[in-house]
Amino acid sequence: MTSIQLPSGSPGARLLGLGSYRPRRRVTNDDLAQMMDTNDEWIQSRVGIAERRWASEDETLVEMSVAAGGKALAASGLDATDVDLVLLATTSPPKAIPGLAPRVAHQLGIPRPGAFDLNAGCAGWCYALSAAADAIRTGSARNALVIGGERLSDYTNMQDRTTAVIFADGAGAAVLGPSDQPMVGPVVWGSDGDLHEAIAIPANETGMSMAGQAVYRWATTKLTDTLVEAMRRAGVGPDDIDVFAPHQANLRIIELMAKRLGLPERTVIARDIIRSGNTSSASVPLALSALLESGEAKSGDLALLLGYGAGLTFAGQVVVLP
Ligand SMILES: CC(C)(COP(=O)(O)OP(=O)(O)OC[C@H]1O[C@@H](n2cnc3c(N)ncnc32)[C@H](O)[C@@H]1OP(=O)(O)O)[C@@H](O)C(=O)NCCC(=O)NCCS
Repeated sequence: MTSIQLPSGSPGARLLGLGSYRPRRRVTNDDLAQMMDTNDEWIQSRVGIAERRWASEDETLVEMSVAAGGKALAASGLDATDVDLVLLATTSPPKAIPGLAPRVAHQLGIPRPGAFDLNAGCAGWCYALSAAADAIRTGSARNALVIGGERLSDYTNMQDRTTAVIFADGAGAAVLGPSDQPMVGPVVWGSDGDLHEAIAIPANETGMSMAGQAVYRWATTKLTDTLVEAMRRAGVGPDDIDVFAPHQANLRIIELMAKRLGLPERTVIARDIIRSGNTSSASVPLALSALLESGEAKSGDLALLLGYGAGLTFAGQVVVLP
């Protein structure tokens, strides 16, 4: 039988650059208290959010994704023509058809890449990161742009104060390329589809609803093992972790996970939720970008990532920061 040839690929993949876009409009908890029955004390103590960004009309999902993607490209030092795979993780496209990744790629001047949208809830960017790293390793792609972009304010039910104060907008992105050493660790991913209704847009509605306590329980009881396994598969331990950047869903969950993992004092913990709210697929790359911009994290740091959300889905991996 004729055998099918495979490309040789690369021993590993690595992050080459990160970029982000935060919408102009800043919405504080006091702003929200003018719109609905809530208050700063409740939001800060239960979720940890002080403010978030909501996109204005001209800040479309495509525009925000292009802005974040362009910054990641500039940071990577690559030219748009070097990229041949573009993944856009999002849960909040304006329409089901067409997917937005080809248009985002086109606006960035990336010629004819493989391009698709990916919906894995708030875990989307971590799923996409793994898919892109594997594509580079196997030779299906040379360099990839992986974007997480959301306009969740389009899907927020303003009558539901529990979710309305949490979800927000923004985009974060990374460029990945080949590497002699693996610098994106093996993914630990999975899903609990029996809980598919826990975060969903109910039938005949346009706004999201969330069974907050059920998701809180799930996140705090099931996901620490995912993080431990991600470190084990990458061959590292808690003491090696410089940066912990889990999905920014709730500050209490972030602190609890960090404590359970036994991360050392020196580990920098991403708390971007305080100023960005929950931006779903965008939250991990936004948090990483913020830490690199502020100097709290630096190039070469070992970061433990975790995405989790609607589906319910989860994905964790260890990466070296660009
Ligand atoms: C959503 C979440 C912050 C809600 O916090 P909670 O402590 O579970 O709050 P509850 O929904 O039980 O509500 C408690 C009370 O606060 C009230 N409340 C809810 N939202 C409020 C708001 N924005 N402002 C003031 N009060 C509010 C409720 O009405 C309820 O009042 P009651 O006790 O008089 O009935 C929390 O459950 C959570 O973070 N869950 C996990 C979310 C997550 O990880 N998602 C994953 C990815 S998207």
